[in-house]
Amino acid sequence: MNNGVAVIRDLLFQFNGIDTNGFEEAFFMKCVQNRMSKTSSNSLNGYCNLLKSNKEETHSLVNSLNNTFSEFFRNTLTFAYLEQIVLPSLIEKKRKEKQKEIRIWSAACASGQEPYSIAILIDELIRIHHLDLSCRIFATDINQSELEIAKKGIYQVSSLGKVNINRLNTYFTRVNQMEYYGHFEAYAISSDLKQYIDFSVFDLASEEGACPQASIYGNFDMIICSNVLFYYKPEYRYRMLAKIGNCLNSNAWLITGEAEREIVKENNYTEEFFSSGIFRNFKPYENKSH
Ligand SMILES: C[S@@+](CC[C@H](N)C(=O)[O-])C[C@H]1O[C@@H](n2cnc3c(N)ncnc32)[C@H](O)[C@@H]1O
Repeated sequence: MNNGVAVIRDLLFQFNGIDTNGFEEAFFMKCVQNRMSKTSSNSLNGYCNLLKSNKEETHSLVNSLNNTFSEFFRNTLTFAYLEQIVLPSLIEKKRKEKQKEIRIWSAACASGQEPYSIAILIDELIRIHHLDLSCRIFATDINQSELEIAKKGIYQVSSLGKVNINRLNTYFTRVNQMEYYGHFEAYAISSDLKQYIDFSVFDLASEEGACPQASIYGNFDMIICSNVLFYYKPEYRYRMLAKIGNCLNSNAWLITGEAEREIVKENNYTEEFFSSGIFRNFKPYENKSH
């Protein structure tokens, strides 16, 4: 079995130039098994032969490894804490320290729902309290085509289920759906909101690149790295968390997905609110990859 998996990883590298060695074994195997069942392959050997003779299938397998699902305000509890406690306290800290800029990194932003959700919360706070404060959100992903969708900022109604009616009216405009998503209802994000965000490609698992280039030194007040760590093997997760830790300001916030809380706890972060996926880096960061 393991030998078959190694052959598949080699084939994907050979045909598509994609290094899948970082993907967690069980996740990788689940994707292979899904593709085997979709292509009616009875054995791993048979599936390897199919991959060798059919490049299209190598693309399908790579696509199935790349889960890009996202939605606005994805984790309701996390976003409630962000709105009610974390962002107001961050704003208060900036006021006390007489700083005028909040810096946030959305580190695997898919097609933009996550950074736009944060931008909505920040924009509301700035407007309600008439704050003299700016906010820069650096939103990155490994997948260029997802980033193109993010920059366009046009979304199917299915990813807007957790956006309340006031926010829908303030920050979105209904667009001609036939032009974008056929018969699915579609909405465009407001250009005011787009101004908070700088989208760029960034591979969190790579040994190169410390932080998004546009951010220069990082120095983030908050990093959201959600629903990506668990796809990777432990040594890759540690490398990703080391990168994040190195460009977080001290006492800054790290937000993760619900299923990644334990991974983050093992890396010296303290969860602020029970089950929230919201952490702070009080302790000096210890890089476990060495
Ligand atoms: C399931 S989506 C999560 C999107 C969003 N963070 C959320 O929680 O809704 C996972 C995203 O991680 C991205 N990704 C996977 N590996 C990555 C890596 N090594 N570096 C940066 N992004 C990565 C994928 O392209 C995908 O867009």
